[in-house]
Amino acid sequence: MNKDYQTRFVAARRRLIADHFSHLNDMQRQAVLTTQGPLLLLAGAGSGKTTVLIHRIANLIQFGKASDSQEIPDYVSEEDVELLEGYLQNPTEGMQAYLSQLCALEPAAPWSIIAITFTNKAANEMKDRLANLLGSEAGDIWAMTFHSACCRILRREIERLDGYNSSFTIYDTSDSERVMKDVIKDMQLDEKSFPPRLFLNLISKAKDKQQDPAAFEREADGSGDYRMEKAATAYGEYQKRLREANALDFDDIILLTVQILQDFEDVRQYYQLSLIHI
Ligand SMILES: Nc1ncnc2c1ncn2[C@@H]1O[C@H](COP(=O)(O)OP(=O)(O)O)[C@@H](O)[C@H]1O
Ligand SMILES: [Mg+2]
Repeated sequence: MNKDYQTRFVAARRRLIADHFSHLNDMQRQAVLTTQGPLLLLAGAGSGKTTVLIHRIANLIQFGKASDSQEIPDYVSEEDVELLEGYLQNPTEGMQAYLSQLCALEPAAPWSIIAITFTNKAANEMKDRLANLLGSEAGDIWAMTFHSACCRILRREIERLDGYNSSFTIYDTSDSERVMKDVIKDMQLDEKSFPPRLFLNLISKAKDKQQDPAAFEREADGSGDYRMEKAATAYGEYQKRLREANALDFDDIILLTVQILQDFEDVRQYYQLSLIHI
């Protein structure tokens, strides 16, 4: 195919794909048709962000990277280019399936897409809207909360970390509080001066910084703050009890996943290749 046909094909292909999303506004469509590299979308509540996300996934599944790629498969002929241009001028039902297929370029497998959000409510909304748009294929997309996605990764990979087992249970906030109450009691501290929730908050902040009990203790020791020193001891004891119960708290789920992805290149590569992050 000569240069002229190549240019015409890339333009016509983009138009055919853009027409699938003609009900969106220009900015939304631009985001949906961007398939390569990171993309940040900032807009107010109710302005159509989730709509973009859902349609961007639909675009990846149906057309792959075709909407913003210059690549042309060998099997595309000059006749195809003319057919495609003719269709754009005057769309006919019969040609639609063939041309949509012609325009697809490495369509993404649903399971290779991850769409993560913070709350269960938002994750369920995403799942419902994906199912409405895509039907049964939507079930294979990793549309879920951060915690569910990390949990799924951990079930597969956690045994790479010493002393962890893939049949772990998850402690919710009240389970964590119960453990911490016992720890405080066994340390012979008064719950009123050392509230379990305070310690759990400090531990949660430490975990956000990827600080383990030993690192937390080093920092607390230098601080001259008695409560921080006790919190460090409580953190070590709390983690020990969770380990003995084969349990993870909410922060561990994120922390350990990050740790595994940082420490094990093969795991990182596996998920980088199999998941397209949106
Ligand atoms: N371009 C658009 N034209 C018409 N309605 C739209 C458009 N984009 C979004 N909507 C509708 O507006 C509402 C809010 O969109 P949504 O994507 O949920 O917003 P956000 O995620 O930013 O809160 C939904 O009912 C959606 O269908
Ligand atoms: Mg939304």
